[in-house]
Amino acid sequence: MIKTNTLPCEISPCAEAELSALAKLAGEIWRQHYPGIISREQIEYMLGKMYALETLRSELHAGVRFYRLLVNEQFVGFASIGPQPEPGVVKLHKCYLLPKFHGCGLGGSMMQHCEREARRLGARRMILAVNKHNSKAIAAYQRKGFEIAASVITEFGSGFVMDDFIMAKDLTSPGQPGAAWTAAGASATGIAKPE
Ligand SMILES: CC(C)(COP(=O)(O)OP(=O)(O)OC[C@H]1O[C@@H](n2cnc3c(N)ncnc32)[C@H](O)[C@@H]1OP(=O)(O)O)[C@@H](O)C(=O)NCCC(=O)NCCS
Repeated sequence: MIKTNTLPCEISPCAEAELSALAKLAGEIWRQHYPGIISREQIEYMLGKMYALETLRSELHAGVRFYRLLVNEQFVGFASIGPQPEPGVVKLHKCYLLPKFHGCGLGGSMMQHCEREARRLGARRMILAVNKHNSKAIAAYQRKGFEIAASVITEFGSGFVMDDFIMAKDLTSPGQPGAAWTAAGASATGIAKPE
């Protein structure tokens, strides 16, 4: 574990050419973080589906925005956001950091970056789905202002389910009224519905 919370980092958009590095990093993070939360079989199954290059590329082309987090030019984390059918709502699809960098403030920086981008695009509310047993992530999200809004179980195929909390955060603050950011309005903003 790296102990400082003042690590200089850079967060930048992830281009298509960088998606394979992102998928590789996702594999590293998932295989370290998720054992004990979901089975190893489910980890491999979900990685194969969610981080297949064609899945990531089609999300990118559909308007999902991916971000890379670099520390000393090393790719150590990533996040992605996309609009939802409900006007003004954006989903934080992914927010992942190598475990050795957890607790240094970097995840908070990624969340802050995604919130800023979402606000810039007119979002008023951010939602995310997190496994109910992922207590570290739930605690970090709560600390950053997200609240549990719902509990959902979603079939993922091959008998696997995602047993998640939906968490939500109000992005409005005085002086920053959100315009509607909708999947339907995506063509106007260059952003499309991701799923
Ligand atoms: C979730 C994740 C991105 C958070 O990143 P992080 O760098 O560890 O978080 P930070 O150090 O920025 O902490 C953010 C805030 O949460 C708090 N926090 C972090 N972990 C915590 C914990 N286990 N318990 C209580 N509070 C915690 C921090 O104190 C901080 O609050 P502060 O800014 O007021 O001091 C990171 O833990 C991660 O990648 N986890 C594995 C992947 C994952 O589960 N992603 C979420 C999928 S939905």
